[in-house]
Amino acid sequence: MEVVGSLGAKVVIDYRSHPDRTDDLIEEIGELGGQAIGVQADVGKLEDLQRLVDTAVKTFGKVDVMVNNAGIETRTSILDTTPDDFDKVLNVNLRGVFFATQYAAKQMIRQGSGGRIINISSVHEDWPMPNNTPYCVAKGGVRMLTRTAGVELAKKGVSIVNLGPGAVATPINNSTMNNPDLLAKLDSAIPIGRMAEPNEIASVVAFLASDGASYMTATSVFADGGIMMSSPGL
Ligand code: BGC
Repeated sequence: MEVVGSLGAKVVIDYRSHPDRTDDLIEEIGELGGQAIGVQADVGKLEDLQRLVDTAVKTFGKVDVMVNNAGIETRTSILDTTPDDFDKVLNVNLRGVFFATQYAAKQMIRQGSGGRIINISSVHEDWPMPNNTPYCVAKGGVRMLTRTAGVELAKKGVSIVNLGPGAVATPINNSTMNNPDLLAKLDSAIPIGRMAEPNEIASVVAFLASDGASYMTATSVFADGGIMMSSPGL
């Protein structure tokens, strides 16, 4: 957040269930010279996504950058994944990103100034995670969403990039972080030797949102401590 606030961005924070944390963030961004509002919206609901875009336009006049960052996982094997698990994960991680991309892109085209969409996927858009199949299926979908929509929309001034983080110290990884044996195993699989702090991902988002990334579209970048290239050297 530090990086985004210090760039003077006007930020619309989507939250589903933590208004207090959102208020803290709004304050932090304000202290750093940015401006922010919070909107309660469930990215699994299309009407909420549309309201999110509409609120941004109503409040700040336009949408230059859309960051699709919500994600859930069930950590289930292909053999155990229920239809409900599958639907839940695909709804948030793929359908939500698909329509958020569509609604943001329509607004960016309408306003005439174009814009940039940053989809937070995962190393698992390309790299298998056994026992997390619905998640990998959804992230693989986001990989092709960004490539295909990025090609379609490039001439309309909308660029789309995926940022694929590795393991980040956020609540999605609580079960690993709270288990010292699992955490040690994960850390030893990461060439850099540790999980990322959220700011180490936010700083890449800030770059992707900046003019410095103006020639990037329909592609993915990874901030993963080297985990996708990890090898025992045997
Ligand atoms: C997943 C985590 C996993 C990490 C690295 C993330 O996308 O949500 O469960 O630890 O990738 O494999």
